[in-house]
Amino acid sequence: MTWLITGGAGYIGSHVVREMAGRESVVVLDDLSTGRAERLPQDVPLVVGSVLDGGLLERVLAEYAVTGIVHLAGKKQVAESVARPLHYYRENVEGLRVLLDAAAAAGVPRFLFSSSASVYGMPDVDLVTEETPCRPLSPYGETKLAGERMVAAAGSAHGMATASLRYFNVAGAASAELADEGVFNLVPMVFERLTGNEAPRVFGDDYPTPDGTCVRDYIHVEDIASAHVEAARRLERDPAARLVLNVGTGKGASVTEMIDVILDVTGRTGLAPVTEARRPGDPARVVASADAIRRELDWSARHDVRAMVESAWAGWCLRHGLPVPA
Ligand code: WQD
Repeated sequence: MTWLITGGAGYIGSHVVREMAGRESVVVLDDLSTGRAERLPQDVPLVVGSVLDGGLLERVLAEYAVTGIVHLAGKKQVAESVARPLHYYRENVEGLRVLLDAAAAAGVPRFLFSSSASVYGMPDVDLVTEETPCRPLSPYGETKLAGERMVAAAGSAHGMATASLRYFNVAGAASAELADEGVFNLVPMVFERLTGNEAPRVFGDDYPTPDGTCVRDYIHVEDIASAHVEAARRLERDPAARLVLNVGTGKGASVTEMIDVILDVTGRTGLAPVTEARRPGDPARVVASADAIRRELDWSARHDVRAMVESAWAGWCLRHGLPVPA
């Protein structure tokens, strides 16, 4: 069994590679636009190239006798997708189409797709289940929903077992070297403010939530990685699998609660958060129901918010020349 992991040199991808490489034979395809080769274990082969390159895909699938694909390569910034929708459709939808085409031609029997809670948009429910209507609010979310549909249709037509995993808010790292290098989400954005000796910002405190700030389901990237291992095993056992699953903890944390943990972990308790205007398009609450993934894959998250923040902070310190906490 050999798995091709696209985007394997990225933040989430490198965690999936690390988790799967111990159990299966793995090869990575990454264009290194945001990924870095140093994130990969020495013994994992890296092919540098794009999923838009059908000829390259054909060669890689044959050369490594690939029997399953985990597709994580793609663009993932909501605001950028609003500014550059065609770029997002090209990278996320056309890239996936070319990859599925190559997979079908090569007879690859398993396909696991990296999707996102952004497919739900502004869900008006306490816990989001996989049956909650999908109404994405950004081109990014639309590309993920289109991707899920393409994966399922191609799976049915070409005899592939498929799974789409809808990640909620990913944070943390398995080691400081593998931490997220982007500053696009709450945890690194607060780190950036604190490192600059500025107060963290709360985008709106008048939401209909217990403390007025937005609630999300933060999930450790190591838990995301272990969910991929379980999903891959399921696809190996079940050639007709057609899974769409939330990958979350089932528990919500508010922005204020997250910032409290971050201040405590970083020791910057003197920098009290300041409230700013709401950020347009932010839903008040997005928390996964984790029932389906528990039922289907016997998987549940193991790490808590503190472990996410501590490991992310170690990575931040390493990259910014600060003393790395033990
Ligand atoms: C979380 C909360 C902010 C920074 C996005 C995508 C989603 C997924 C994950 C990929 C919000 C608030 C933030 C700050 C704040 N991406 N905030 N002060 O928006 O839930 O999800 O990333 O698949 O698709 O939409 O994540 O981390 O940006 O924000 O108050 O300095 O923190 O307003 O309520 P979000 P986020």
